[in-house]
Amino acid sequence: MAVLSPRASRPDSPVPAAPGALPLLGHSLALLRDPLPLLLSLPGHGEVVRLRLGGGDFYAVCTPELTHELLHDPRTFDKGGFFFDRLRELTGNNVASCPHAEHAAQRRRVQPMFRRDRMPGYGRTIVEQAAAVTDGWRAGTVVEVFPDMLRIGAGCAAALVFGAAFGPEALERTISDITRYVEGIFTRMFLPPVLTRIPLPANRRYEQVRKRLRHAVSEMVDGHRRAGHPVGGDLLTALMEADPAADGPDSRTGLVDQLTLMLMAGTESTATTVAWALHELARDPGLQRRVQHELDAVIGPETPVHAHIEHLELTGRVLTETLRKYPAAWLLSRVATKDALLGGHRIPAGAAVVFSPYLQHRHAELFPDPERFDPGRWLPGESLPMMRKALIPFGSGTRKCAGDTFALTESALVLASILTRWSVHPVPGSQVRLAAYGALQPEGLRLGLTARCPGAHG
Ligand code: HEM
Repeated sequence: MAVLSPRASRPDSPVPAAPGALPLLGHSLALLRDPLPLLLSLPGHGEVVRLRLGGGDFYAVCTPELTHELLHDPRTFDKGGFFFDRLRELTGNNVASCPHAEHAAQRRRVQPMFRRDRMPGYGRTIVEQAAAVTDGWRAGTVVEVFPDMLRIGAGCAAALVFGAAFGPEALERTISDITRYVEGIFTRMFLPPVLTRIPLPANRRYEQVRKRLRHAVSEMVDGHRRAGHPVGGDLLTALMEADPAADGPDSRTGLVDQLTLMLMAGTESTATTVAWALHELARDPGLQRRVQHELDAVIGPETPVHAHIEHLELTGRVLTETLRKYPAAWLLSRVATKDALLGGHRIPAGAAVVFSPYLQHRHAELFPDPERFDPGRWLPGESLPMMRKALIPFGSGTRKCAGDTFALTESALVLASILTRWSVHPVPGSQVRLAAYGALQPEGLRLGLTARCPGAHG
């Protein structure tokens, strides 16, 4: 098995083209309609496969070995390509989108926010945010899970980024704008560039959303400044303290870029993760009971806190398996900075190269029966080092997610806050669709609620 073991590359082998390209539009329509089946078909054509969009070719990397090579050579395969080009339209040059040459300095500035010793404090905020939303739930009713998880995700991200909450109206508007913008990024990635520049209603709406989002973040920065920079545990305070001129006209733009990115990166990603975990647990009542048994044994009647997480072994495996099956960031891009060989395949300078955690996590040799949700894969005796290496929901290499520990803390505490009080079950007749918009969304996910303990409303 060649999986993730070093292999000799064949020099200069041609890159096969994916079949089904239409004249002018290439694979744009197939990608816009439903990109997931097309992605899953690509390894059948080669290790690296060329696809066509109206605006030019791009290259999809289809093996774990070559994805590893791509992510661990940031000088040759730098941030760029159509995903990051679209992201920069909203968030400018930030830690996630900046070129390799600027990355170490950008990362140093934000890294202190994600130190492990900050997690217990964030944990308290996360549990408050979860309660603010789920206190409104009632036994015997049905909840639209994803919108509620988005409220919690955006509340947690705002607390991390600004040290303050959005008001209820601003929160709803920001959530709607973030989801629409991220959706827009994916649509525009696959459209011929000329169509994204003409004044169609969809393009005008995208631009309005972009302006509104940046305005919302600017308002938060101004509010912070008016309050006289209170020393807080948030990113905005940390960035302003690191660079006292950061609210001057020039660096203020950089500040808004960084904060907008963090708000976006932290909202949908964790919301989809917890929503998918609840979906799988609702479908498997036995597994749900075992998770609740663990929560009862570790947390009991107390409020969940960060210190509980290390003892929630099964809950942790449920989240790992959720991130395998439903990696929020399902497609990401790089740009070749020079003519390059990837596993012997020629990639021309300037070409976009994409990789997909969604595709990689369905590699049947590494993850047998990949559509089966099985936290047992991650039992210490079961999981092989190469499975762990191929698991890339947070990416890999120097550009690996800066918020991974925060995201796992948030997901575990939100799940614990819900399942200590509620059991969830599927609603007969309702259909859940895996929708590849911005993140992989559980479209149509509705769950019935049963109260678990006398403290639950009902
Ligand atoms: C389950 C939740 C999350 C998932 C699945 C996720 C996934 C990812 C992935 C795959 C990357 C790498 C992108 C690439 O290689 O091009 C990334 C980068 C990043 N993420 Fe996350 N993320 C999550 C949550 C968060 C949160 C909560 C934050 C912060 C509030 C965050 C902040 C970032 C930042 C700043 C980067 C850029 C890192 C760099 O280039 O140095 N993420 N994320």
